Amino acid sequence: MKVLIVGGGGREHAIATSVAKSPKVEKIYCTPGNAGIAQIAECAPIGAMEFDKIVAFAKEKEIDLTIVGMDDPLVGGLVDALEAAGIRAFGPRKNAAILEGSKAFSKDLMKKYHIPTAAYENFDNAKEALEYLETATLPIVLKADGLALGKGVLICNTLEEAKEGVKSIMMDKQFGSAGNRMVIEEFMTGREVSVLSFVDGKTIKTMTSAQDHKRAMDGDQGLNTGGMGTFSPSPFYTEEVDEFCKKYIYQATVDAMAAEGREFKGIIFFGLMLTPKGPRVLEYNARFGDPEAQVVLPRMKNDIIDVMEACIDGKLDEIDLQFEDNAAVCVVLASDGYPVAYEKGKLITGFENFDGKDGYYCFHAGTKQTPEGIVTNGGRVLGITAKGADLKQARANAYKATEWISFENKYMRHDIGKAIDEA
Ligand code: AMP
Ligand code: GLY
Repeated sequence: MKVLIVGGGGREHAIATSVAKSPKVEKIYCTPGNAGIAQIAECAPIGAMEFDKIVAFAKEKEIDLTIVGMDDPLVGGLVDALEAAGIRAFGPRKNAAILEGSKAFSKDLMKKYHIPTAAYENFDNAKEALEYLETATLPIVLKADGLALGKGVLICNTLEEAKEGVKSIMMDKQFGSAGNRMVIEEFMTGREVSVLSFVDGKTIKTMTSAQDHKRAMDGDQGLNTGGMGTFSPSPFYTEEVDEFCKKYIYQATVDAMAAEGREFKGIIFFGLMLTPKGPRVLEYNARFGDPEAQVVLPRMKNDIIDVMEACIDGKLDEIDLQFEDNAAVCVVLASDGYPVAYEKGKLITGFENFDGKDGYYCFHAGTKQTPEGIVTNGGRVLGITAKGADLKQARANAYKATEWISFENKYMRHDIGKAIDEA
């Protein structure tokens, strides 16, 4: 079969790598892709929001399955557009992708269906939000309602900071129209875990757990980024936690969406906080995490095409989802200065060091092919993933492999997976 993947980051390279392993797949296309994906797929320079062009491309190439990796096109309704044209697509429709697209929607859903999450209020005008702050407990968390590249969350320690935050989100529109509404919620403490799952509208099967590192600098300092590295599994995601989440969170979310007439098919990514009072949902995403996908997918034993088709056809109950009994660590190589300002166009060398090395992956994110070679083309440049028998071994392997790659302004965190020493 012919498969089209929409997106062009490390996540899509990890998805493409899994798709390429399926014996059912004869050809992979990717829009827009990147220099790494181009080694296993035919890439076309079509933006992820150019729905008409994507649909026309899928028809022209007679694509059998389109996988939408990114949040923006999912929330914007790309799956609906593909289905309307008779093209099979993996991912939630627009009316279900709202689970990620609106934080106010997801909070109201959790409240209505008693799914554990932080206490909150929604606001659609700044005046009421500012009044509410006067009586709120600090610290307090402010969230722009819509998509904001993972940056629309402000944690405020003082009333002054919180008031400034409301102004920047709702009045100055720091995150654009994402800030037309906002959520103000209780600050929670605990460890964060990402649990990704396949969903077919009724049945949910969770994947192995992972943990991201969102801050730019060692010791969780600096600005929030898209993610600087991940490890899987999380040793803090115990059987007890899993049992709690199965009972109160996972199936409850799928059933809630179905009850609202918003049947969810695709990936639900549960951002969880393991608080002293038990697990709570921090956020939902309607897609694979990036870089979570870069540690979870390499450990998946199933043929990803079988699982995705089962989701589309409502037959996920027939799938026995299995993961390897090992661990993986991904360290992101970024351009120095990310997530604020950084230079692009630096030549990258050393890719050949990965050739023939089982259990090592060099996933491309912001890269571009030029006549001179592959150059940097974004903030997050590469995701270096390695497997190991356990987390410590995987971490040692991943950091060893980061040395195989060179480029000017190469930047990484040196403490990805440090938490595993505390487990
Ligand atoms: P989100 O985009 O909702 O995952 O938020 C980004 C990050 O902000 C999370 O990964 C947490 O580290 C932090 N965060 C979000 N909500 C809360 C909360 N209610 N309490 C504490 N930290 C939070
Ligand atoms: N790594 C977090 C995300 O993909 O949203």
